[in-house]
Amino acid sequence: MNPRDRLIVALDVPGADPARALVGRLAGRVGMFKVGQQLFTAAGPAFVRELTSAGHGVFLDLKYHDIPNTVEHAVAAAATLGTRLVNVHALGGRAMIAGAAKSCAGSGTKLLAVTILTSHDAASLREIGLPMAIPDAVRHLARLAQHAGADGVVASPEEIALIRAECGPGFLIVTPGIRPAGAARDDQARAATPAAALRAGADYLVIGRPITAGADPAASADAIAAELDQA
Ligand code: C5P
Repeated sequence: MNPRDRLIVALDVPGADPARALVGRLAGRVGMFKVGQQLFTAAGPAFVRELTSAGHGVFLDLKYHDIPNTVEHAVAAAATLGTRLVNVHALGGRAMIAGAAKSCAGSGTKLLAVTILTSHDAASLREIGLPMAIPDAVRHLARLAQHAGADGVVASPEEIALIRAECGPGFLIVTPGIRPAGAARDDQARAATPAAALRAGADYLVIGRPITAGADPAASADAIAAELDQA
């Protein structure tokens, strides 16, 4: 895969117009665009369709978590939009993940599962009644997601190696929390450089502000692609 194709740019902006401006500057330089809850709630499925109709790869990052029947039909709708990646919370359980996987089967859409949100720490997991250590919970949920039919997981840089060891080479690992050396960390506490994430075994890197917040997003994307090329 061309290193650029591994880059997924998070369009964390408040509406379709600023998103279009970013897409205009980055098209052809990155592999996909991520539409998350903020942009989807503001601009809706019409904007997702606008991107996919123009030939852009889209990761629809809505992290579905509901009863299996509801998630199965929501994921079917997401696949109909022509998205390449959609995701659910692995905590929704085997039947829910399997329903989502069924809706992706035969489409061009791949299903990812979120294991434990990176915003959790051991104390906040205990607070919601999950006493496991985070790496154990991540490993357990990644395996559950794989057995239920997910194509991969979203994982922080420090979880890449353990998931790769648990789930094998064909399982997709999509990693946010990427910061080029010297870049602002923002609110990412446990960041890795693009090269380190790739070497640890990530398939795709989700990158937002290091590309979108600077004066020249295209140059930032090119620099990260060059770093991946070296790695
Ligand atoms: O701007 P930045 O590179 O931090 O953006 C990272 C993107 O990845 C954001 O859209 C964020 O919501 C998402 N994400 C994350 N950590 C996770 C899951 C998703 O940063 N565990």
